[in-house]
Amino acid sequence: MADLWSAGESYEPYIGRWSRVVARRFVPWVGAPTGSRWLDVGSGTGALTRVILDQAAPEAVVGVEPSDGFRRYAVDAVRDDRASFRAGEATALPVGDAEFDVAVAGLVLNFVADPSTAMAELCRATRPGGTLAAYVWDYSGGMQLIHRFWEVAAEQDPAAGQIDEAARFDLCRPEPFRALFEDAGLADVVLEGIEVPTVFTDFDDYWTPFLGGQGPAPTYLAQRTEEQRTAIREALRERLPTAADGSIPLTARAWAVRGTRPR
Ligand SMILES: C[S@@+](CC[C@H](N)C(=O)[O-])C[C@H]1O[C@@H](n2cnc3c(N)ncnc32)[C@H](O)[C@@H]1O
Repeated sequence: MADLWSAGESYEPYIGRWSRVVARRFVPWVGAPTGSRWLDVGSGTGALTRVILDQAAPEAVVGVEPSDGFRRYAVDAVRDDRASFRAGEATALPVGDAEFDVAVAGLVLNFVADPSTAMAELCRATRPGGTLAAYVWDYSGGMQLIHRFWEVAAEQDPAAGQIDEAARFDLCRPEPFRALFEDAGLADVVLEGIEVPTVFTDFDDYWTPFLGGQGPAPTYLAQRTEEQRTAIREALRERLPTAADGSIPLTARAWAVRGTRPR
């Protein structure tokens, strides 16, 4: 099953809004000086780009994104003279050598077929002494909104267990993720968990974004029958923790890693 990324307006309520929350902790943690030139690989709808612009006082941010729909959304949503977006793949970045002070990728590297080649490209794009950093969800359980979905889906359809990001993406565990940066030859590699609250106002706020067809779980759901979708929905409704005011308080953890391109 291919992962679908095309409709920014559906991605935003599903993951974009939570990626922004992680990005607000991630960007200061990257620690780049003001006036830096940033590269945002797999920039999607511009969630991380927007936070870099708001928090890091960059000279420029270039987003590289293969999805035409996401890129169009980002151009409309970001609207900042310091930001621009290019069509391209992480494994063949449409940028010059050492063009950037910082290269980042938020929730992207696990979706790239060859993450080592992507890292070589991020290194090429970053000046010696510059910083590379990335984050991915902790799909093994820390990213609760998705983990809860797959738990229920797998009970009803054992094949769902194979599509679950936890089964597919070994890279989203601390050791392989850190090793990706170390094996790319980076110095001073540091890994840290970033945990954020993902509080849904009610069950519909949790469920409706799964119907938007963006990313593995919504893509899986779009391929079920109406009856199967209903069964998953009702099992989740019963099982998710619900506060007295009807809100659903979950949390999401991302693993963040950073390193320095040696001089
Ligand atoms: C989960 S979204 C993350 C988007 C954005 N960085 C954010 O934090 O919201 C994954 C993004 O990776 C992009 N992507 C998938 N494969 C890619 C590749 N080979 N090279 C670059 N980007 C890729 C998708 O198009 C999508 O925009």
